[in-house]
Amino acid sequence: MPALSMPLALPPLNLPVAFGAPHLALVYRANLTSSQVLLVLGAAGGVGLAAVQIGKICGAVVIAVARGDEKVQLLKSLGVDHVVDLMNQYVTASIKEFLKSRNLKGVDVLYDPVGGNLAKETRKLLNWGAQILVIGFASGEIPVIPANIILVKNWIVHGFYWGSYRIHQPAVLEDSVRELISWMEKGLITVHISHTYSLSKANLAFSAIKDGKAIGKVMIVFDDLGTVRSKL
Ligand SMILES: NC(=O)c1ccc[n+]([C@@H]2O[C@H](COP(=O)([O-])OP(=O)(O)OC[C@H]3O[C@@H](n4cnc5c(N)ncnc54)[C@H](OP(=O)(O)O)[C@@H]3O)[C@@H](O)[C@H]2O)c1
Repeated sequence: MPALSMPLALPPLNLPVAFGAPHLALVYRANLTSSQVLLVLGAAGGVGLAAVQIGKICGAVVIAVARGDEKVQLLKSLGVDHVVDLMNQYVTASIKEFLKSRNLKGVDVLYDPVGGNLAKETRKLLNWGAQILVIGFASGEIPVIPANIILVKNWIVHGFYWGSYRIHQPAVLEDSVRELISWMEKGLITVHISHTYSLSKANLAFSAIKDGKAIGKVMIVFDDLGTVRSKL
């Protein structure tokens, strides 16, 4: 099915799923401002694509890392300041060149839902006093950040788990969702859905994610409720 971008066509049930974590992480934890440089890894993925949109709303300089031309073009269309295509560019060299062209020293906030080697490489780009948002491990590899480097560089490392706000700070979670709904109503943010499948084809939805074809979110629709039978 073709890509679908729908600010209001769906009830905003999918909104917290797509935007909840990046909003709380960037706005409440990192206090992202317009004077900062934000680097988003896995930027065309579910929580990455939301993070770049939030970064732009906050007025930050946004750098995005993704793989493949289709993802790069979408990120550029969202106004991302610099996009690195990992398929044909060296990530640190490309970002260093961009920072130099803008007379910027380095990255202030690293938003990392990927981990692995990419996280290790991009840490070389961080400024003194930078913040690292540990969001997830899509690469399958959990990064190790040496404490001596954190000390010397005065970095702040945020462990971030959105779901736990429901238990520990439900009021913050509610405020966050309220702000996201208002942004969505104003057309400032869009939940991008690259693939839509019926429930009976749910396996294809997982394949799209596993094969790196998904951009933003993949949606499973319950369009055949009459034929759905519980196996419980
Ligand atoms: N902390 C929280 O509260 C929270 C909330 C939601 C999700 N998460 C976590 O965040 C992670 C991402 O979730 P998601 O929904 O965005 O997943 P997703 O839609 O699959 O996106 C992940 C992205 O990571 C990139 N990627 C995967 N392996 C990579 C590798 N080896 N090197 C470089 N890039 C790689 C892929 O982009 P390219 O192919 O373009 O590189 C993909 O688009 C997951 O671990 C998830 O559990 C955490």
